Amino acid sequence: MTAPSSLFEELHRYRHAYYCEAEPLVSDAVYDERVTQVQQWLQEHPEDQAASPLAQVSAEPLQSFPTRTHRIPMLSLSNLYSLEEIREWDADLKKLLGTSEVEYVCELKIDGLAVSVQYENGALTVGVTRGDGNEGDEVTPNLKTVQGLPHQLPEPLTLEVRGEVYLARDDFERLNQRREAQGEASFKNPRNAAAGSLRMLDSSEVRRRRLSLFLYNQVEGPMAATHFGCLEQLEQWGLPTNPEARRVSSIDEVVAFCEHWEHHHEALPYEIDGVVVKVNSLALQEQAGYTAKSPRWARAFKFTAEQATSVLRAVEIGVGRTGSLTPVAILDPVSLNGTIVSRATLHNYDQVARLGLHLGDSVTLEKGGEIIPKVVAVDAAQRWAQAVPVLPPQACPVCDTPAEQGSGEVDWRCPNLGCPAQQRERVLHYVSRKAMDIETIGPALVEQLFAAGLIGDAADLYSVQAEDLAQLERMGPKSAQNVVTGIEGSKQRPLGAFLHALGIPHVGEKTAKLLARRLGTLTALREASQEELSRIGEVGPIIAKSVSDFFRNPEQQAFVDRLLAHGVEPQASEQAGQKVAELEGKVVVITGTLTEPRDVWKQRLEEAGANVTGSVSKKTDFLLAGANAGSKRTKAEQLGVTLLDEATLRNWLGMKAGDAAAEA
Ligand code: IVH
Repeated sequence: MTAPSSLFEELHRYRHAYYCEAEPLVSDAVYDERVTQVQQWLQEHPEDQAASPLAQVSAEPLQSFPTRTHRIPMLSLSNLYSLEEIREWDADLKKLLGTSEVEYVCELKIDGLAVSVQYENGALTVGVTRGDGNEGDEVTPNLKTVQGLPHQLPEPLTLEVRGEVYLARDDFERLNQRREAQGEASFKNPRNAAAGSLRMLDSSEVRRRRLSLFLYNQVEGPMAATHFGCLEQLEQWGLPTNPEARRVSSIDEVVAFCEHWEHHHEALPYEIDGVVVKVNSLALQEQAGYTAKSPRWARAFKFTAEQATSVLRAVEIGVGRTGSLTPVAILDPVSLNGTIVSRATLHNYDQVARLGLHLGDSVTLEKGGEIIPKVVAVDAAQRWAQAVPVLPPQACPVCDTPAEQGSGEVDWRCPNLGCPAQQRERVLHYVSRKAMDIETIGPALVEQLFAAGLIGDAADLYSVQAEDLAQLERMGPKSAQNVVTGIEGSKQRPLGAFLHALGIPHVGEKTAKLLARRLGTLTALREASQEELSRIGEVGPIIAKSVSDFFRNPEQQAFVDRLLAHGVEPQASEQAGQKVAELEGKVVVITGTLTEPRDVWKQRLEEAGANVTGSVSKKTDFLLAGANAGSKRTKAEQLGVTLLDEATLRNWLGMKAGDAAAEA
């Protein structure tokens, strides 16, 4: 066991920071472990009792907040860690409720601390922290300093509402700058800062820290029939609610909401650590009920951000199909989110420089939404004095051509189009599932095909014979025939997939599909000028130039011609050309409850030539507004945006009244 004096001293520091400075230095888990160690020591060495840090800090300032029992306990939420788990929960819940239709409300999971606020006859009377869920600290004077929280409601209501106190990113920055200027330690993150601030005794200092609050739950007072209705009421009473909450009618929309915020939350002015999904109907909530700790009618979808530390042993350089040279960290194996990780992406050499990475460094890894973990931080303090910095490569690791960095570009690249690694990657991309989908060809076979001189690029695949293949190692006549059949079967892929397979820089799967839909045929695409291309909504100047350059490049022209000569026949998109005059090039926003899923409307509108975006602005032409359209509708009305209903749109799209049902 650790020597008691240093253990005692360590725990004393943690307790002082937590209780006296309201600023935890370590996680609860580390703290609890130290407490257990001290307790164990004291059991065996009762003579050290007087020196125990646990015996101290007794009359600390924070004890002076009165404890208050919650009339209704503040529960926590069960977590879900993947989109599949969300769907499983939905299925279980529907079984439990005996219904196949459940409306949900999706909310952001604000990363702050939970509080309960009471109003009596319209006046704010009590504010309590969550504490252990049964009782918390009464911090009413501090809560009264929270920005945007009214001390008086417009009606003499008696309410209990709950929500999350947080510190916005810019208020957090400002607070830390002020602390640094005064020689005080800065807070690690906005949540610690908010938690610490709410537990301070000096309310005028709390006010300076500019805490904010979003309310997300009403537990007493006049209730609406649904959770969303309650949120709308709170808003009407002037209470702060989060503007991103959405009512949705399918689990697909819940999943889409979670996916969206998993990838876009960094742009919010405050931190969130997930999404909370709640059953909308209060009657159904009651029917679903609670377990001992949490409601069955709600779940928290947590963004994956588990971290681990490891040591950087080497940096491998990957060569992409466009020649980009990507650094990959080779690490001591470590467990992260349940898998053993020994490689992590370093993105590019700008990122390596930003991290100041050296070989042998102790690094922090994180798994974001992506499958491949990334290196997010480096512990320079643990670095060996002679450590060698990681620098951009001088040459391509495969063909030894000197590496280049294009002006204004982040990536270092191998400029040799004939580089074997690039050729291999281009073929692998060509056969991949979302491109030509030739399942019978994988990385090992591509390697063999090149090595045997059977192919030089993807177009050569179409002249490979079964007899040639059968000569390759580990390849019998039957598998050889399967490969040839697979290649043959790829000749009639949709135009979008073919376009994606060509590997035009800046044209990913989605853009390829969009271009296919808008231009309809390969001939139209090959002939389209840069100007024509950039007139398509969502196609910016970079994509337009890249596509136009690609089809004007003689080598690429020859490549496409060879593919066509081998009988590759991209299939025109069914909807192509069927633009709707009223909608072509128009910007449409969808809101409210519709009779058909939003993504169905989105697809239809896009196919008709419209661009569907998420928020109403001056650029919006139409708002497709369903029932209870809320703030987007108000904003659209203010901006004079034309409102549409589903019937009008069906009419414009030439759908007969029964079409919707038939499609669904
Ligand atoms: S609902 C019974 N909604 O997450 C319902 N909680 O892990 C309980 N949180 O203790 C909470 N944003 O501190 C709810 N929109 C939101 C939330 C939210 C953040 C926090 C809250 C709660 C914890 C549960």
